This record gives sequence, C-alpha cells and structure tokens, in this order.
Amino acid sequence: MGCGVVDQLPGLLRAHCPAHQYAVIADHRVAELHGAGLMSSLTSAGFTVRLFHFPSGEWNKTREQWSALTDQLLAAGFGRDSAVIAFGGGVSGDLAGFVAATYLRGIPHVQLPTTLLAMIDSSIGGKTGVDVPAGKNLVGAFHQPRAVVADINRLATLPRTQTASGVAEAIKHGVIRDAVYFASFADAAPILARETGPLEAVVRRSIEIKTDVVTADERESGVRAILNFGHTVGHAVESLSGFDLLHGEAVAIGMAIEARIAEASGIAAAGLHAAITAMLDRYALPTAIPESLTSASILEVMQADKKTRAGRLRFALPTTIGQMAQSSDGAWTVEIDEQVTRQVLDSR
Ligand SMILES: NC(=O)c1ccc[n+]([C@@H]2O[C@H](COP(=O)([O-])OP(=O)(O)OC[C@H]3O[C@@H](n4cnc5c(N)ncnc54)[C@H](O)[C@@H]3O)[C@@H](O)[C@H]2O)c1
Ligand SMILES: [Zn+2]
Repeated sequence: MGCGVVDQLPGLLRAHCPAHQYAVIADHRVAELHGAGLMSSLTSAGFTVRLFHFPSGEWNKTREQWSALTDQLLAAGFGRDSAVIAFGGGVSGDLAGFVAATYLRGIPHVQLPTTLLAMIDSSIGGKTGVDVPAGKNLVGAFHQPRAVVADINRLATLPRTQTASGVAEAIKHGVIRDAVYFASFADAAPILARETGPLEAVVRRSIEIKTDVVTADERESGVRAILNFGHTVGHAVESLSGFDLLHGEAVAIGMAIEARIAEASGIAAAGLHAAITAMLDRYALPTAIPESLTSASILEVMQADKKTRAGRLRFALPTTIGQMAQSSDGAWTVEIDEQVTRQVLDSR
C-alpha cells in the first residue's frame, strides 16, 4: 500500500499472479473513473487484459451479476491460465473475488481496492461472495487473493460519505484492538478532506490489525469473530434499510447498539457507548436505528445471522475500547439473552 503503488502493479502481477490474460472486473463508476488508466498501463506493460463491468451499488452484489460475469468470461474464452483483477470497492472485491473462486473451479485473483473500506477491510482475508434475498453474504467462498494493491491516490475521487463509511470500519479496528488508534480518529478534518498522509496512516494501521486477526484465524473459527463487532445489528439494519444505508453507516449504528448491549449485559462498564458514538459523530456517521425499522424485524434478521448458534443470539462485544470479550468456552462471541437485546432495541 502507499501513494502511487499502482505503478508497481505490473511487477507484482508477474511475481505473484502470472497469467495468460487478465479479466479486470469493476463496477460502472470505477470503470468510468479509473478503468482507462489501468487498462492502458497494463496493456503498455505487455499484459493481455479485458475490462468487464457491472452496475454500481450493493444491490448488484448478486448471483445474477455473478452469473452474467462468469458467462461473459466464458464467452470471451478465458481459460484456466487466466486471472481476475478485482477493481473497485468492496462490492467489486466480493463479487469479482467470487467469480475468481468459482470460475472453472477457481482461478487466481488480485485485489485492487479503490475505496477506503475496501483497502482496510474487504480486500483482506479472502472472503468473497454475494448477497441473497435471505441476507447479506450468505453465498460465497474463501478465496485468498495473490496480492492486494491499495493506492491511496485513488481515494481522491471518493465521495465524503463513502470516506466516512470506511472510517467506521477503521474506528471498529481501534475498538477491537487498539485504544491509541481509536483515539487518533478524534481529528476528523484531515481524514474527511482526504489528505493523503492521514489516510495512509489509517490504511496502514487498519491493514495491520485486520491482517493480524485473519492470519491468526483464516477460516473464522475463533478470534476472527471480533471483526464482527457492530455487524450483527449492522447487517440486519443494512438489509432492512433496502440499501439506503452504506455498509459503514450500518456498521456505525451496529457498533452503537452493540456497545449498549455490552453495557446492559455487564460486559462493558458504562461509558463505552458514549465514547464510541462521540467518535462516530465527528464523521457524521449515524448511531441510531432508523425509525422505520421495528425491533421485531431486526431480531428476526439477526436470528438468521451466521453467528447464531442453535437460534441463540451471539455478539462480538468489547469489554472496553481496545479489548474484546471472550466467553468461558474460549469463543470470541458471547451469548446474550434475547430479553436484553430486545430491551436495548426498544429503548430508542
Ligand atoms: N469480504 C469482506 O471481508 C468484506 C468486509 C467488509 C465489507 N465487505 C463488503 O464490502 C461492500 C462495501 O464496500 P464499499 O463500501 O467499498 O462499497 P462499493 O464497492 O459499493 O463502493 C462504494 C461506491 O463508491 C464508488 N467508488 C469506488 N471507488 C471509487 C473511487 N476511487 N472514487 C469514486 N467512487 C468510487 C463505487 O462505484 C460505489 O458506487 C459490502 O458489500 C460489504 O459486505 C466485505
Ligand atoms: Zn464490515
């Protein structure tokens, strides 16, 4: 990662992901903004590349787009000696990664994230997949990228709300692992202005934290669960909002509510919720559940979440900023009484 590292892409591809030809998969917006530049730099470096795109937006991270893209690759004659370049935000990363994971039973891929969220989170760890009517990310595969190349310069064109949405995940990294990093977000203006120095520092520290956690637990049987802080409520709110909320916005709401669940169940001392919401406020991130969503509907979606065991709700919860709770059986999720969850959801 760094500023201008995309210049190193040809060398990285030769070293880590050599292929006969490359399918660059991007959403329309990224293809429009940055597609031509990437294609011409790869072509002039001697690579055979072809750009495939799909409509922008979370609602396009679907089986239908996966099927359209795989059909296009088949029609274009991409063989087992080809590779995928997932170019864009988390939606492109997850969808193109899933194409790579399944195409001809799996071909290699490289992640080229262009949103803050994708640089610090979705491009790392090898989780790929699509959303289905029953919920987000319920169909997918683990498929590790051969390389992740994050060029901070790409963030110059990122809208402010998308930047803030990425910051929500970075603040989460502070909450789960590093109180000093969490505190560093108090100075919001330089990050929101997309100054490269502060952004680079965020991308660097968040990548370290995420990489540490996922290398310790590649297939999410243990400590990786801590990355789900804010996501049990967050995913439910995100799906129910009909994609009105950005992923990071839904996670911000999820962190606020789950911090209250941690306080209400005695896992965290009073003050955790206030500290987290004060930080999220600096980035104008939402911290309350939209009024249109009922507690019953949120509970119902959470029951279908992958983290429930035998229908019981489990959450990854902080004990304090920088430290997550571990239950007596060693799990990094804690079972929470449905009554407590319901009370917190109702008390808005
Ligand atoms: N696989 C994982 O481990 C993981 C982790 C976290 C999130 N995710 C997934 O990531 C997705 C969210 O990712 P996202 O927030 O990046 O959304 P996104 O991919 O939809 O990107 C957000 C918007 O920004 C645009 N965009 C991207 N790069 C740009 C740039 N440089 N300049 C201007 N516009 C740009 C895109 O076209 C899109 O409209 C969700 O689907 C979420 O489930 C996956
Ligand atoms: Zn997330």
